Amino acid sequence: MANYNHFQTEQMPWKPDPGIPGFLVKRFFTDPDTGQFTEIHYVPPGWGDEVIEGKRYRHYHRSVYERALCLFGDFPHWEFRNPADTEGELKALRTGIFMDRPPLTIHGLFPQPKSIAGAATLAWNTGGGTSVEDPRAKDETIEVPFENFHGINLEFTSPRFTHLADMPWQPHPTVTGWKQKVLGTRNTLAPEAVMVSIPPDWTPKQAHVVSAASERRWIFLFSGDLTVTVKDGAQKTRIALREQDYLDWLPPVEVSLEPNASAGGAVVLCVAHNLTAGK
Ligand SMILES: [Fe+2]
Repeated sequence: MANYNHFQTEQMPWKPDPGIPGFLVKRFFTDPDTGQFTEIHYVPPGWGDEVIEGKRYRHYHRSVYERALCLFGDFPHWEFRNPADTEGELKALRTGIFMDRPPLTIHGLFPQPKSIAGAATLAWNTGGGTSVEDPRAKDETIEVPFENFHGINLEFTSPRFTHLADMPWQPHPTVTGWKQKVLGTRNTLAPEAVMVSIPPDWTPKQAHVVSAASERRWIFLFSGDLTVTVKDGAQKTRIALREQDYLDWLPPVEVSLEPNASAGGAVVLCVAHNLTAGK
């Protein structure tokens, strides 16, 4: 894996998703050891029977933490409090909804309703095996039948769905003038996910090198413009990020923001950091 990866995701071709029949995907990052990934996937309008063939289907994941932000569309699915809750609750991912799904949530599909407009979702998981046709799924994803489920005695939990518009902007903890929305806090499985707002013509008072960490960090330019400098060994590259661009990096790569980093302002999704500078 490269020390850093930059993709103009708008320019990437959609490919058939090898994990879910009928989905299309743009994959930005995969950790071959853990199956951890970051991607945008697309659910076509009317999708579902490719997998469930007109039947009800539900499952849970044993260990993977899933987070996702719906960029466009609608994707209805069902959530179940426990195996005995066979009715479930209809939920829909819609434009602007952030999903915070720990392991051990039961979720699935019913034959109706289906997506009307389709949906494109930015998704990042802490491991693989959450897609039905992923080879890791046999260990990670456990089907929960709608009958004869009484042997399944686990502490199930529930996901959280929050619209971005319902999360208030807060002052950024380290940079005066910036604001942030904490989509998800860091926990034992998943790193933090923070939406950071940078005002137009913002200029750092001193060099703003995003603080280093041993884990891979990434940003996704949700809106606006942002120019960053990526230093990989002796090589320095200025990258003018466009909306929906993705950039990840791993030490020793350094990412810094220079004066006038954003001419028109930027809203940036940051995972495993919040763009704070420092060592
Ligand atoms: Fe799932």
